[in-house]
Amino acid sequence: MSLQVSLVYLTCLILSSRSSAPGRASLHRSSDSAGRCHYTFTVASPEESSCSGSNVKQEMDGVLSRLALLEALVSQFIKGADGGAGTGVGANHEEGLQEAYTQVTRERNQLQQDKEHQDRQIGELQRRLAELNKEAESLRQTPCLQAHTSGGAQHEIKPASDPPYSSGSGAYQEMKAEVTEVSAPHLIPEGNHNLTGCGELLSVGEPVLQRKADSITGKYGVWLQDPEPQGTYYTNKTVWRIDAVGKDVRQLFAYEDTDQFSRGFPMKVLLLPEPVESTGATMYRDSLYYQRKHSRTLIRYSVVSESLVSRLDLPQASYHGQHPYSWGGYTDIDLAVDQQGLWAIYSTHKAKGAIVISQLDPDTLEVKKSWETHIRKHTVANAFMLCGRLYTLASYAAPHTTINHVFDTATGTGRTVSIPFKNKYRYNSMLDYNHAQRKLYAWDNFHMVTYDVRLGRTSIGSS
Ligand SMILES: *[C@@H]1O[C@H](CO)[C@@H](O)[C@H](O)[C@H]1NC(C)=O
Ligand SMILES: *[C@@H]1O[C@H](CO)[C@@H](O)[C@H](O)[C@H]1NC(C)=O
Repeated sequence: MSLQVSLVYLTCLILSSRSSAPGRASLHRSSDSAGRCHYTFTVASPEESSCSGSNVKQEMDGVLSRLALLEALVSQFIKGADGGAGTGVGANHEEGLQEAYTQVTRERNQLQQDKEHQDRQIGELQRRLAELNKEAESLRQTPCLQAHTSGGAQHEIKPASDPPYSSGSGAYQEMKAEVTEVSAPHLIPEGNHNLTGCGELLSVGEPVLQRKADSITGKYGVWLQDPEPQGTYYTNKTVWRIDAVGKDVRQLFAYEDTDQFSRGFPMKVLLLPEPVESTGATMYRDSLYYQRKHSRTLIRYSVVSESLVSRLDLPQASYHGQHPYSWGGYTDIDLAVDQQGLWAIYSTHKAKGAIVISQLDPDTLEVKKSWETHIRKHTVANAFMLCGRLYTLASYAAPHTTINHVFDTATGTGRTVSIPFKNKYRYNSMLDYNHAQRKLYAWDNFHMVTYDVRLGRTSIGSS
């Protein structure tokens, strides 16, 4: 008489049809058509009613727990066979059962190995997921669609204390309306992202509206956040704003954060000791740096002590309309801050209108080093510094323009580039980079906007 023990496992459909209560094991004995006796051990899945589940790990755990039950049943069965009681199976069947037990053990070991392999794969997948999340985060920094809504403007509460329109001093600074149309190519350069520190500018995102000025004095101006605030009273959340329209521009508005800024509620208005010329001011380490009206004098004003800390003439600098940006506005001297410190972007009589870049000592305002470029200042609309490189904007009015030059102070060389840039409101009077926020700040025809930027690996050499 031959006895064959067949073990049925993993075939959930059969399991579930044989056994209804989960977690229970049973033994079924039947003869097949050839007259041989079949022993069938079945264990129901503790979790699943059918095989439709897709969680491999859960399934594997289920199989393992079922196997444990099966082992218990088999050993119980062997014990019963040894005692020769209750089961009706003789001791001579022991060999076959032992074989079945060995097979179960072998299969359990195989499953355990599979499970370990699966665990490793899960670990690997989790690592990949973390990487993808990081990538998604970096992609989010260059949004494809304009994320900001104009809801702020719709629900705007008109503040009592936002920059008031002083009807007596409505004189405009010089403005020009020549438009340098430069067609924007569609190519966005490829490159590796560098989310920390420096890199080359690869692309500029859509303008995101932060605030719209509500009076004529807000046609153009300067708004900033300090990339490196030193104290606790003013932080990297504080927003600073100067409306630059008027004969005697001396008010510096401080807002607690971008939210208060977008609502138009300043926390403080500081009165500057000297009037401001144009939109070239910058904020760095708790000081406002600006050009004194109708002069080449630079002023460092501490917003903490609320007093003038240093003043110094910028040697040979042109001023008051001699070498402004293309839009005019007495933008002869533009101050900028980046990872490497404080810079002045201007021209001199000697340079004949070509842009001169000087690195300044932020304490004394003295020139540490200067570079002369071949970029005619009046041909570009604005400029900013990023990682020791000067970038220029081709047009202040074209809705689709480009960043068209880069000059690297590390190598003393420049080249033309073509990075698409949008002047959504068609009169961009200020452009500054904030390296802490990793954004460009601009003042575009009453609209204070930010742009996300994408930076990439520093390329070697330039032409
Ligand atoms: C602003 O300052 C806080 C606290 O000092 C810091 O955690 C945060 O990263 C800063 N944010 C930026 C954009 O610099
Ligand atoms: C990112 O910038 C840092 C700081 O300049 C630099 O050390 C690093 O090599 C850059 N990484 C890449 C991928 O370009």
